[in-house]
Parts: sequence; C-alpha cells; structure tokens
Amino acid sequence: MFSSRLISRAFSTGSQCNAKVAVLGASGGIGQPLSLLLKQSPLVTDLALYDIAHTPGVAADLSHINSKARVTGFVGAEQLADALKGADVVVIPAGVPRKPGMTRDDLFNTNASIVRDLAEAAAKNCPKACLAIISNPVNSTVPIASEVFKKAGVYDPNRIFGVTSLDVVRANTFIAEAKGLDPATVDVPVIGGHAGITIIPLLSRANPAVSFPDDKVDALTKRIQDAGTEVVKAKAGAGSATLSMAFAGARFAISLLRGMNGEKVVECAFVKSDVTESTYFATPLVLGKNGLAQNLGIGNVNKYEQELIKNAIPELKASIKKGEDFVNKK
Ligand code: NAD
Ligand code: LMR
Repeated sequence: MFSSRLISRAFSTGSQCNAKVAVLGASGGIGQPLSLLLKQSPLVTDLALYDIAHTPGVAADLSHINSKARVTGFVGAEQLADALKGADVVVIPAGVPRKPGMTRDDLFNTNASIVRDLAEAAAKNCPKACLAIISNPVNSTVPIASEVFKKAGVYDPNRIFGVTSLDVVRANTFIAEAKGLDPATVDVPVIGGHAGITIIPLLSRANPAVSFPDDKVDALTKRIQDAGTEVVKAKAGAGSATLSMAFAGARFAISLLRGMNGEKVVECAFVKSDVTESTYFATPLVLGKNGLAQNLGIGNVNKYEQELIKNAIPELKASIKKGEDFVNKK
C-alpha cells in the first residue's frame, strides 16, 4: 500500500525517468493541485494540462516552478489529441462533483459522456498509456473507459485503473487518529469500489496491526465509507474533496511511474478483476512496467469484512453494467 516514505522519496529525489503525464480536467478543483504535485515530481518530464477552459493560465503559472517537468496547456477538444500523444500516464479528474444530497451515481448523466469522449481520444492517441480515472461514479466510469478501449481494439485491462487511493488515505488517517499513531506509518487496504457500501476498508489487515471493539470497527468503517459525503456536506454546495484527492491522485500517478521505472509498488485500485463475482473490484495490486503486474487479491478477511464484501457485490454489478450499457447500447 502507500508507503509515505517511498512517496516522499519519489517527490524529492532525482530518480531517473522520462515520462509524460497528461491531466484531463486540469483546471478544476482537483486538476490544479494535482498538477502542482505532479510538477514537483522528478519522475515527470512532460506535464500536459488539458481542459475545456483556463489551461493556458494554469500552465503558464505552473511552468514558472523550477522543477524539471515541462508544462504545456491544451484547451478545447481540438487540442486534446496533442495533449495525449506520447503520454505514459493519463489522469482524468474531468467532470462535475457532487452537491449535498447527491450520490456519486447522480453524476452519471453528466460524467459518463465526458469520460467516454476522453477515453475515445486516449484510445486513439495513446493506446498504451495507463489511465487513472478519478471522475465519478468510478464504479461506472472505469467500465465505460474499458468498453471504449475494447471498441477501439486496443483494450488492455492492466492499464485502466479507477483511482480509489483517497479511501486508503482516509482509512490510514482515521485509524492513526484513533490509535495515536503517525498517519504516515499506517497502511490499511481498502477494497471493493468507490461509493458508499462498496468501499470496504480491511481494518483486520492494517499495518501496524490494530484492534478495536466491534462497535468501533463498525463506526470507523462507516466513517471511511461516508468520508466523501462528510466533505461534500462541509463544503456546503461548493463541491467535493479536491485537495485530499489531488494528494491521493498524485500519489497513485507517481506509483504508476515508479512501477514503470522498475520499482515494486503496491497500490489499491479499481480494476477488471476475477477475484469476486463482480467483474471489476479494487484490491491491492503490484504495479510494474506495463501497469498492473499482479493482482494480490483479497487475502484473509474476517467475518465482518466478508459480510461487507457480500453486501457490496450487487451494487458493484449494477454500476458496472450501467457503465458498460452506456457505451454498448445506443
Ligand atoms: P471541478 O468542477 O472543480 O473540476 C472539473 C474540471 O473538469 C473543470 O475544470 C472542467 O472544466 C473540466 N471538464 C469538464 N468537462 C470536461 C471535458 N469534457 N474535458 C476536459 N475537462 C472537462 O470538479 P472536481 O472537484 O475537480 O471533481 C472532478 C471529478 O472528480 C468529479 O466527478 C468528482 O466527483 C470526482 N472525484 C473523485 C474522487 C475519487 O476518489 N475518485 C475524489 C474526489 C472527486
Ligand atoms: C470522495 O470520495 O471524496 C469523492 O468520491 C467525491 C465525492 O463525491 O464524495
């Protein structure tokens, strides 16, 4: 899982890598701080910032930072192909965020077509890139991107990821707070998907090992599942998590680059999967030169966690089908 020490090493040392990262939705609440974090990574050589608005300004601003990544802004659909050509990693935070009272699935009507169109462009211009999809509902947008890549004849399930890293970041933080630990030293795998009950933190597998009474396990699990809604409520109509998501998204993108660079890196993400009845499922994954190198599966879980997995499957299946049908049933 995330090792903060390894991540800070990737942010701060001169590791060798020539990589182009494209951020699609780069002017948004997530896109801007995510691009700032990527600009600080020595693993990034070229940073292509694409959005339907404001990227020239964001790119000009970031380009004055004295780190090696060359920053270029691309604005509007006619510049999308150039943003994507040669990309090794494409991070997609494009799309609308939730307002109080909405579920992530309520974003489907707007975000499904945004992700479909961006995936079509990626399939055409950088079919070998790893896609890191942040746009919600992740449980549907990842199957959408996969179906688009299948239609284009360039599908590789090892290169399409739904970013669930924020759930891991939150689980690490909340467990550390509850136990008085340094959050940077805690690793909690979070499996399943990225919406409500499909978010399944495995507290029994926390590293370092921790134990809580049953009611506390339940309360912590529910807080991790509802953490996105906690931020949406606190922002009171001004959107959802942006800064913590930028942190989590940058860490995931950098982990992909570290894997491509030959390091053994383990991250949880939502991917095509055969470890459960759900055809996509987040589990810990070894990242390598070509994206997903090994799916580590679910591993040992206790009765409480088994029940969480069982309860998540029907919702996951429905969200996946909704995404696949969106692309295939016109
Ligand atoms: P935002 O509205 O601040 O930014 C979205 C950006 O996308 C805007 O700059 C907008 O211009 C751009 N955009 C819209 N259509 C586009 C298109 N066709 N091509 C390129 N860019 C386009 O929203 P935000 O707060 O940055 O959130 C973005 C998405 O990320 C939302 O769907 C949100 O639900 C999701 N999100 C996911 C997670 C996660 O854990 N996976 C966490 C937080 C937010
Ligand atoms: C999150 O978990 O913060 C994101 O999925 C955004 C949201 O809508 O909650």
